[in-house]
Amino acid sequence: MKTISGFSKMSKNQKIEWLATQLDPEAAGLVMGLNDFWHQDEELQKKFDEFSENTLTNFDLPFGIAPNFLINGSVYSVPMVIEESSVVAAASLGAKFWLERGGFEARVISTKKVGQVHFLWSGDKKNLEAFFELHKNDFINSVSFITGNMEKRGGGIVDLSLVDMTDKLKNYYQLKVTCETKDAMGANFINSILEEMAQVLKRKAQSCDFFESQEKDLQVIMCILSNYTPDCLVECWVECPIEDLGTFANEMSAMEFAKRFAIAVKIAEVDRSRAVTHNKGIMNGIDAVVLATGNDFRAIEACAHAWASRDGEYKSLSTVTLTEETFKFSIIIPLAVGTVGGLTSLHPLARTSLAILNNPSAPELMQIMAAVGLAQNFGAVKSLVTTGIQKGHMKLHLLNILNQLNATEAQVDAAKDYFSDKVISYTSVRNFLKVH
Ligand code: MEV
Repeated sequence: MKTISGFSKMSKNQKIEWLATQLDPEAAGLVMGLNDFWHQDEELQKKFDEFSENTLTNFDLPFGIAPNFLINGSVYSVPMVIEESSVVAAASLGAKFWLERGGFEARVISTKKVGQVHFLWSGDKKNLEAFFELHKNDFINSVSFITGNMEKRGGGIVDLSLVDMTDKLKNYYQLKVTCETKDAMGANFINSILEEMAQVLKRKAQSCDFFESQEKDLQVIMCILSNYTPDCLVECWVECPIEDLGTFANEMSAMEFAKRFAIAVKIAEVDRSRAVTHNKGIMNGIDAVVLATGNDFRAIEACAHAWASRDGEYKSLSTVTLTEETFKFSIIIPLAVGTVGGLTSLHPLARTSLAILNNPSAPELMQIMAAVGLAQNFGAVKSLVTTGIQKGHMKLHLLNILNQLNATEAQVDAAKDYFSDKVISYTSVRNFLKVH
């Protein structure tokens, strides 16, 4: 492949054609077919093109619904965008299971987000502290033209502090800005505040009359919000008498199930290898709602895993509490999401998702996402400690393989029958299709 300059300036068709000229005929043919995935509606396509850069086409993902989520007394049908089979099915089964047992309870613990001005400064720390205290209100007031609207909505800057990080890195300090961003995710809001405040910080240091000359030289390194949001936290739980858990495959009793389930979750607390997979199951549910509602799944993922290792060990995000009579399954997770601004209103399907959820506030959406994560985790661990994961998984996997091999409807029916008690693999399905 050749290098190119000016790629971003080319039209979409020119980009596609250039890329095709760089590839072997088969790949070039595929690239030339990228316009098959464009929207017919040109205005809509333009909107999609402008979400990102160097856009050639759209990449479709399935948009599904997990119904029957009873959360704090309200029922939701939750939109989920995910390519992995079984995830929506597991969430739906989890929702139905708990619908019959009182549903999900959820509460938002806090909704604060943080941004940091990272800077270097050398001198007598007491001088910097005095400087900060003297100008703290000036720093906050200097950004009132940015925070004014948010304040009208009940948000804005809720705290500003000076953080001494010099024990970790020579001369390194932070201005830590804590914000309430209401229903917005708030990334632009926080970053704008930080960049403006950094200018004021530098200027005020330069003109500070009690700083020694070298103390006036405050070096701002960078300004950026933190995607670690341990103070944007939601808790969700399900609870029922153990005997109400019902009976399970292979005549497993409710008590036996509860104990096996609790041990499975404990394993994810003590073994990192299992914890990552356990939490991946939770994020299967959460990410699918994050995507459906136009939120930032990279931020949610990065934060969730940092949170899972907050004690220095990476652990399960969910917990089981078993007493003699009751089974309680819960999750506490930071979820910094928005329901206004950004993609949430620009992407037509994100808007539809939010409408399906009855246009929730950001805290309501945090509760819904936590419930879906918990349902997903419940479904996965329930399968793992009872029938095993492959039984349910393989049914859908079989369909995927049959689709890949262009099986006819009659072949699909015959294959479902044939493989109901057999191990499914790509080769075994292909061999089956050769003779059916
Ligand atoms: C698969 O995407 C997710 C699971 O592996 C989660 C788990 O093991 O708990 C089934």
